[in-house]
Amino acid sequence: MKKRILVIPGDGIGPEVTKWGQKVLECIGEKFGHEFSFDYGIMGHIAIEKTGKPLPEETLEKAKNSDAILFGAIGHPKYDNDPTAKVRPEQGLLAIRKELGLFANIRPIKLFDELLNASPIKPEVLKGSDILFFRELTGGIYFGKPQERRDNGNTAVDTCIYTREEITRIAKLAFDFAMKRRKKLTLVDKANVLETSRLWREVVQEVAKSYPEVETSYMFVDAMSMALIRSPTKFDVILTENMFGDILTDEASQIAGSMGMLASASIGSKVGLYEPIHGSAPDIAGKGIANPIASVLSAALLLEIAFGMKKESESIVNAIDKTLKNGYRTIDISDINTDTSKILSTDEIGEKIIERI
Ligand code: IPM
Ligand code: MN
Repeated sequence: MKKRILVIPGDGIGPEVTKWGQKVLECIGEKFGHEFSFDYGIMGHIAIEKTGKPLPEETLEKAKNSDAILFGAIGHPKYDNDPTAKVRPEQGLLAIRKELGLFANIRPIKLFDELLNASPIKPEVLKGSDILFFRELTGGIYFGKPQERRDNGNTAVDTCIYTREEITRIAKLAFDFAMKRRKKLTLVDKANVLETSRLWREVVQEVAKSYPEVETSYMFVDAMSMALIRSPTKFDVILTENMFGDILTDEASQIAGSMGMLASASIGSKVGLYEPIHGSAPDIAGKGIANPIASVLSAALLLEIAFGMKKESESIVNAIDKTLKNGYRTIDISDINTDTSKILSTDEIGEKIIERI
């Protein structure tokens, strides 16, 4: 197959880890006889520095004309403590999600057996965890208008808004995936307080009627934040709105041992965007110690979801599994039992994975 992939490395550790997502794609292309071509785009802080805009038109154009996008990370500490900044790196990511119509963000939380001890959660609680999050990505409080200051800056307004259509389309997608898994779906909301959540519940109850084989349950977000770490194996597909999904998936990363292990797929229209769930990690950027596995797993998701290349995707996951079984770790997934001579840099562990593909 011939495919065009746009690589957007972004900020912080983005370029260091995305390099390995791309190398793995190149390696798969050679091994399986696919022709992948790569183009590059800028977004985030780096794009603001160069063009004044977090998402330059050129990057968006390239994105629209590609078959899939591999993205790194976004953000710079310079903006985090400057609440008055008008232009922010994150606006680039939000804009590309919206412009491309990527309303569904899929975040698989899968624990590699080898990492049972890398998580702060007890191994017996964790063993067998395998959750698929569906986070709504282009609605809710992230995009609701108005978002503004009033009263000479002394009052701030964010708006949480959802339409029946926005909920229905992601709910159907989540149920379709549940049918291919363990046939369990949990909607997370705050329907005891929020009107938007009550609409979510109403719509999901309606959609559930078309999926009688799926065992559907409902949970408030506060209860879920506890249940996720208390009994993670209870859950299969978890469906939720934009901000709850953002928060819960960071929490859920601890089930997989580290944020450095989680990939995501943002889909919904022609071109999907594949990225680690982690941020730009400015504290470790440039040190060569970031874990590239989330980017490599994003590449695997890209192959599977965007190109339907299941075998290719599996060979990446198997290579990561072997690398971990051989004892190799980056610092974030090491524990007291790790042989320190096997704690590797970003590039070293990237090479080990490539060798094993
Ligand atoms: C994520 C990130 C983004 C989000 C930020 C960088 C805008 O945290 O992808 O989870 O909140 O969606
Ligand atoms: Mn997040």
